[in-house]
This record gives sequence, C-alpha cells and structure tokens, in this order.
Amino acid sequence: MKHSVIVTHPNIEESKVNKSWVNELQQHDDKITIHQLYNEYPDLNIDVTKEQELLLSHDSIIIQFPLHWFNTPFLLKKWMDEVLTYGWAFGPEGDKLKGKKFRLSVSTGGTEKTYDSFVSLEDLLKSVTVSFQFCGLEMLPTHVFYGANDNLEFKDIQINSKQYSDLILQ
Ligand SMILES: Cc1cc2nc3c(=O)[nH]c(=O)nc-3n(C[C@H](O)[C@H](O)[C@H](O)COP(=O)(O)O)c2cc1C
Repeated sequence: MKHSVIVTHPNIEESKVNKSWVNELQQHDDKITIHQLYNEYPDLNIDVTKEQELLLSHDSIIIQFPLHWFNTPFLLKKWMDEVLTYGWAFGPEGDKLKGKKFRLSVSTGGTEKTYDSFVSLEDLLKSVTVSFQFCGLEMLPTHVFYGANDNLEFKDIQINSKQYSDLILQ
C-alpha cells in the first residue's frame, strides 16, 4: 500500500512535533510520500491537477496538521476547497477517491484533559472527517499528540513519532 502524507504546517522549521513526525516518516520513503503544502506553495497558489494526481496515485491519504483555532491551518482548508472538486471527488462521476483510506494526524497545544472537559477533539475534527467520508474514503483512527506547547520531552515526541509510523505501516 502506498501512503501519501499531506503536511500543512506554516512554520515547520520551528515545529517540534510535526517536524519530528516528518523526520520519522522520511525513513520509510519507499512506502510513504511526504507532501508539505507550505513548501510546495509558498505563494498559496495550489496546483489542483498536481494535487489530484498525487491523491490518485496513492491508496491511503494521511492529513497531518497542528490544530489552529480549533480547526485546520487555513492552507489545508483552501486545499480541500480547491482539490476535492465536484465531479471528481463527489457528485456525478465524482468517485476518484472512493475506497481509499484516510487518517488524520493532529497535534494540539491543549492537553488531553482540556479536550476531555472542554470540547472533544473528535467533534472539532468532524468537518474534515465528514468531508473525506462524504467523498467515499474509509476513515482510520486519528493519531494525536496532545499538549504540544508544554515543556516537551524529546523522548516523548520520539516515542509518539515511532507510534505514528507504526500505525501507518501496520
Ligand atoms: C495560530 C495558532 C492557533 C492555535 N490554536 C490552537 C487551538 O485552537 N487549540 C490547541 O490546542 N492548540 C492551538 N495552537 C497550538 C498548536 O496546535 C501547537 O503549537 C502545535 O500543535 C504544536 O505542534 P508543532 O510542534 O509541530 O508546531 C495554536 C497555535 C497557533 C500558532
């Protein structure tokens, strides 16, 4: 199975979690394609045909991002708006992604406890998960790193990154 990981982080150089995830996944580049939207499109002009071809050539799609204002970073929303088009991803003959698998991988500044008591992460991510399900993709369990703004232990990020690659490659 070929996996495509769509990474949307506006400042990956300053990142701890998403950068570590990318570094870990890069060790499996025979099975995993990493596609970083902010690197591809610094001018934010998305090449829709190129993005659709990338999705078509993979069996599983992983959408990786840090939570920003309880949502996706805006370039990911733009990517969804422009790439998941009528007649391609949904609507008449819009079956190009049908049957593929997808997974979200999300880092949050808030702790797991915060999300348990305040609002559930699952609920926050529904607009994304429902969109991909609407396009006929099969959802796999979400991978999460909570509390990504605390005094992080490098070891914990490393463990989580290995769990992430194991989950994708299992
Ligand atoms: C503009 C902005 C908005 C954010 N909004 C949230 C939020 O709504 N909830 C949350 O838990 N963390 C929020 N955060 C924290 C990020 O999710 C956190 O810094 C990120 O997941 C850390 O991952 P990284 O080490 O890969 O950068 C926000 C950060 C930024 C920069």
